[in-house]
Amino acid sequence: MMSDGGFADMEQHNGMSVTPLLELRDVHKKFPGVHALKGVSFNLKPGEVHALIGENGAGKSTLIKIIAGVYDFEGTYLVEGQPAQISSPSDAIAKGVAVIYQEFNIAQDLSIAENIFFGALPHDKFGRVRWKELYRKTSEYLEQVGLHEDPRKKMRFLTVAKQQMVEIAKALSRNAKVVIMDEPTSALCGSEIENLFALVRKMKSRGVGIIYVSHKLEEITELADRVTVFRDGAYIGTDPIAVLDEKAMISKMVGRELTNMFPKRSAHRGKLALEVKNLSTHKVFNVSFAVHEGEIVGFAGLMGAGRTEMTHAVLGVDHRMHGDVSIYGVPLPPNSPVKARKMGVGLVPEDRKKDGIFADLSVSDNMSIVSLDEVSKFGVIHGKDESGKIDSLIRKLTIRTPSARQKISKLSGGNQQKVILARWLLKKNLKVLIIDEPTRGIDVGAKAEIYSILNELAQQGLAIVVVSSEMPEVMGVCDRIYIMAGGTITNELQKDEFSEETILSSCIDIHN
Ligand SMILES: Nc1ncnc2c1ncn2[C@@H]1O[C@H](COP(=O)(O)OP(=O)(O)OP(=O)(O)O)[C@@H](O)[C@H]1O
Ligand SMILES: [Mg+2]
Repeated sequence: MMSDGGFADMEQHNGMSVTPLLELRDVHKKFPGVHALKGVSFNLKPGEVHALIGENGAGKSTLIKIIAGVYDFEGTYLVEGQPAQISSPSDAIAKGVAVIYQEFNIAQDLSIAENIFFGALPHDKFGRVRWKELYRKTSEYLEQVGLHEDPRKKMRFLTVAKQQMVEIAKALSRNAKVVIMDEPTSALCGSEIENLFALVRKMKSRGVGIIYVSHKLEEITELADRVTVFRDGAYIGTDPIAVLDEKAMISKMVGRELTNMFPKRSAHRGKLALEVKNLSTHKVFNVSFAVHEGEIVGFAGLMGAGRTEMTHAVLGVDHRMHGDVSIYGVPLPPNSPVKARKMGVGLVPEDRKKDGIFADLSVSDNMSIVSLDEVSKFGVIHGKDESGKIDSLIRKLTIRTPSARQKISKLSGGNQQKVILARWLLKKNLKVLIIDEPTRGIDVGAKAEIYSILNELAQQGLAIVVVSSEMPEVMGVCDRIYIMAGGTITNELQKDEFSEETILSSCIDIHN
């Protein structure tokens, strides 16, 4: 396929300079009210993984869209040392740039084959698609990424991980020299992540340059050759990974040392707030647990262990087949999320994009939507008190937005997450807050802030359930941890029993 893999190796061994695959110099990008990029530079060499990091709203996705020809910009764009005119996505594709986006915009009703060869279907001389050839070629590319699926299968029937593999196969089919990945692992589980990393290394060995955006610093340590940091639209610097540890990356991103990621908990355990007894749905079996006011209780487990399904069972999103749920001793009727909400149970869903965002509404409307009993037909009306709280949450969570009136869809991915989270922190009369993956896609600085807000809320008497796949997070913020596997609770750990080994050993699915 590509023949410059050896070239890249040579460069790494001899320290000779090679012409970058692409280079951007002094790039500026302005949106109404936002100077998103303030003179940044970036270059990508063949056969390297170049990580791009920075806090939510730092400008990472914006730079990627510029490289991909989606946005116009001020500055210089060079491809293999030559000035290039990239003013549309097809210009970028023609130069060998492929993007695997943070938000998938895959045509879900196309087959795998049609998606891979979109805009490049093989035709015969009468203009008819050569289906046989299409499926054969597709199978070859699927083989290369190790995906064993029928090329005729529709994209919508694939998991996110497999859709991503199809996108990589598409990049390979186009002989991409530059592959851009924007938070590729945010919806993948352990083995899927390993698989993705293996593919990245394979592309790298063929001389492909990879731009890798992620908030997971341990991934970057494992995968990257060089790291570029943006802060608030400004270029901070580029370093080889060898000279950066996580602490150094964090301080470059946030501009200060970040001590105390986790607040000191002095759990004051009050009355029994949420009690779940022998709860079963078609996804979870015989789940029993209790959360008291003032407590932060964690749910750990592997992807697919049934933690999200447990939250759906409690709230009544999924049909309750057996068991009882009560809030301060009052039974929660089954199958009524509305009733649950009225009784003071809040759920911040895992997939906030799908379940939570009103794309056409402003930041402040998105925040206050669950606090209102009804929204008047003239739109959402904010009291003075509420506006104050909204502004204070925007500040506390460092939500990067020109104002509370900005449409939420104009915010960066992580900042949208913060808004949805803030929605629940604003809600009055909340007794139990269940929060699924509280910091997914959220930068380190805001993570620390979210932990401290959860801590405050618990101190005020809220009972909090945190579902998290991040081991340091559950161990750092929770007073107790339940571990789930195979749709049921397999262990319960008190704070003094927390350890990664114990949690992991209880994660193994006893049913398999
Ligand atoms: N289409 C747009 N219109 C207006 N402002 C925008 C638009 N796209 C991005 N912005 C703003 O530009 C800034 C940079 O956003 P960008 O999406 O590049 O951040 P990011 O570094 O990718 O963050 P995250 O880690 O949250 O994904 C943000 O302040 C964002 O609100
Ligand atoms: Mg982004």
